[in-house]
Amino acid sequence: PAPGWAIDADVVVVGSGVAGLTAALRCAAAGLDTVVVTKARLDDGSTRWAQGGIAAALGEGDTPEQHLDDTLVAGAGLCDEEAVRTLVTEGPDAVRRLITTGAHFDTTDSGDIALTREGGHHRRRIAHAGGDATGAEISRALVEAVREAALHTIENALVLDLLTDAEGRTAGVSLHVMGEGQHDGVGAVRAPSVVLATGGMGQVFSATTNPSVSTGDGVALALRAGAEVSDLEFVQFHPTVLFLGADSEGQQPLVSEAVRGEGAHLVDADGVRFMLGQHELAELAPRDIVAKGITRRMHEKGAEHMYLDARHFGAAMWEQRFPTILAACRSHGIDPVTEPIPVAPAAHYASGGVRTDLRGRTTVPGLYACGEVACTGVHGANRLASNSLLEGLVFAERIAADIAEVRPPRTEPAEVSRAAGDPVPLLAPEARTAIQRTMTRGAGVLRSAGSLAAAAEELEALHREAAADAETDGAKAVVPGVDAWEVTNLLLVSRVLVAAARDREETRGCHWREDRPDRDDAQGRRHLVVRIGPDRT
Ligand code: SIN
Repeated sequence: PAPGWAIDADVVVVGSGVAGLTAALRCAAAGLDTVVVTKARLDDGSTRWAQGGIAAALGEGDTPEQHLDDTLVAGAGLCDEEAVRTLVTEGPDAVRRLITTGAHFDTTDSGDIALTREGGHHRRRIAHAGGDATGAEISRALVEAVREAALHTIENALVLDLLTDAEGRTAGVSLHVMGEGQHDGVGAVRAPSVVLATGGMGQVFSATTNPSVSTGDGVALALRAGAEVSDLEFVQFHPTVLFLGADSEGQQPLVSEAVRGEGAHLVDADGVRFMLGQHELAELAPRDIVAKGITRRMHEKGAEHMYLDARHFGAAMWEQRFPTILAACRSHGIDPVTEPIPVAPAAHYASGGVRTDLRGRTTVPGLYACGEVACTGVHGANRLASNSLLEGLVFAERIAADIAEVRPPRTEPAEVSRAAGDPVPLLAPEARTAIQRTMTRGAGVLRSAGSLAAAAEELEALHREAAADAETDGAKAVVPGVDAWEVTNLLLVSRVLVAAARDREETRGCHWREDRPDRDDAQGRRHLVVRIGPDRT
């Protein structure tokens, strides 16, 4: 639809998690006229749900080099080493700047930042806040800083498409805004620099740790705009998500890796610690290995879940160190102080996304991406625990520095149009559940050529149906709105994800193919890059 209103800025940041708000604050501090748009409220999104913390070599004896080694091992041969080096080297100072911005981390009795361990880390390296409410504290501090800096923010604004100028350069975004007064309905923010920080796509699966807003909007926009997207097959399943029943759908409560970092054990119904002997780090092996270990044991035992046993922490430690998890478990009738917690893996993090260079630049001039929506190369085939908040911070700062250096001139309004590409048929919101069930059955923690082929066929059928409905000249036309756009985006990213998972005929990192159980370095060390929008060559 044609925009009913438009405003102009130097930069528009899409998304308001750690990556988006950091980019916005730094751009504004550099004197750039910055607008933040976000799909719900400023503090919705995944950042506020992060529990364990933020990884950085801050502890005595720890070094960026050791953090680099652990990250490369977790990434199973697919990390971009230069990107990882950037992350781990600039990480400690980025965390200190976050503290200066106002975030309060937990400290030891001597006043140093308290550090815990998580899977794949050989050291205590994870800074945390409020025990297990790290993301909530980071979000609070950044939202407060954005309000203090009086940044222009537009909430309830679903981003639709990238706008470009006659040369195909970024010229802003179109938006569907609801209930925000002067900027209501379909409109546009025109700006020569757009920062995508829209977060992940966990909602493509039935059960996920992600909030309902994580529908892959940024990846879908980038695909429609012709940007390259990479590594979408690498969906990380968090090993320990509170099990609420096999048919429980939507966002599920996370039980942080930090609980294992502090000494909790994974056991089966007979109390056997099945991760012993599977990896030198047992319960603290990288996340893909623990998720596989749990899934295998579930299959062997015909069980729907395993257990996380941390009764030995005692009530005082549970209350002090993990108050959020304790409350979530108790609200579902489980008391971790006196009983083991039922857990199973659930979709958690998209290691792939919109491909960027080390300055966060995508393959479309003027379009940047950071945070979970991006594929900077730091995660490879499997993200190391607690590297995601850090990635959002470090690369958001790099993006702001790049925009401040380039300072592209504003585009002439008359030249702005939607990025050309095939028109997208809108899907009816009811298709959401069908997509999620298809993806969970066919492209979940365990995949095979057969399951992926079935998923691809079901997704294509949904696409064909939507395209046919769109051609009925309005008779079956879907009313454009947030729900319809979200489902349309879910379908697009699911189709690309399944195609990538079919293409990668090996098991690597968090991509687990039952029919190809081994890592195959001969074919496997490549990145699967997809580009479907307008030709930009
Ligand atoms: C957790 O607390 O286990 C989540 C940490 C992460 O996803 O990096």
